[in-house]
Amino acid sequence: MPKRKMNNKKIQSLSIQVLQLKDVSFIQHIDLTNNLKWPLCYYFKSITTPCFYSYVARIGDGYVGSIMFRISMSVMYIDRILVDQSYRRAGIGARLLEEGLGVAKKENAEKALLTASINNIIALNFYLKNGFKVDNIRSDYYSKNEDGVRMKRLL
Ligand SMILES: CC(C)(COP(=O)(O)OP(=O)(O)OC[C@H]1O[C@@H](n2cnc3c(N)ncnc32)[C@H](O)[C@@H]1OP(=O)(O)O)[C@@H](O)C(=O)NCCC(=O)NCCS
Repeated sequence: MPKRKMNNKKIQSLSIQVLQLKDVSFIQHIDLTNNLKWPLCYYFKSITTPCFYSYVARIGDGYVGSIMFRISMSVMYIDRILVDQSYRRAGIGARLLEEGLGVAKKENAEKALLTASINNIIALNFYLKNGFKVDNIRSDYYSKNEDGVRMKRLL
C-alpha cells in the first residue's frame, strides 16, 4: 500500500515540464515499473503531433509521473496519467491534471473526457475528487466483463 502522505519537502520541489525527447526513456521506465505498457511510438507521437500534449512531473533530477492527452474539436481527451507508486497520494497526480486542464482551457477546450476501468477504483476516486462526473458506462470496453467508465468535466 502506498504511503498516505509524502514528505512535504519533496513535493515542494516538484516541477511540471513539457515532455521532451530526452525524457522518453525515463518516463517509459516509470510506466513499465508501474505495469503500464505503451508502444514506444506513442511517446514520440505525443511530442511530435500538434494536438498531442505530454507533461512530466519531476522532483529534482528524478521523474515521478506524467500525463498525456489530446485536444480535438474543443474536447480534451485524457489518455493516461501515472504517478510512480512510491510517490502517490501526495498531490502529484492532481498537479499533473491541473497543468493539463489549464493547457486545455487555454486551447479553448470546453470539456475533458476520459475512460477508466470500472475496476480501477483508485483512478475513479482520483477523478471524482478532481471534479469529474460519471458520464456513462461502456460495456466490455477493456475486455469481456471489464466495463469502462466514461468521465467528464466541464472546463
Ligand atoms: C490515479 C493516480 C494518477 C493518482 O495519483 P496521485 O499522485 O496518488 O494522486 P493525488 O495524490 O493527487 O490524489 C489522491 C486521491 O486519489 C484517490 N486515491 C489515491 N489512492 C487511493 C487509494 N489507495 N484508494 C482510494 N482512493 C485513492 C483519492 O481520491 C485520493 O485522495 P485522498 O488522498 O484525499 O483520499 C495514481 O494512483 C496512478 O498513477 N495510478 C495508476 C495509473 C492509473 O490508473 N491512472 C489513471 C487512469 S488513466
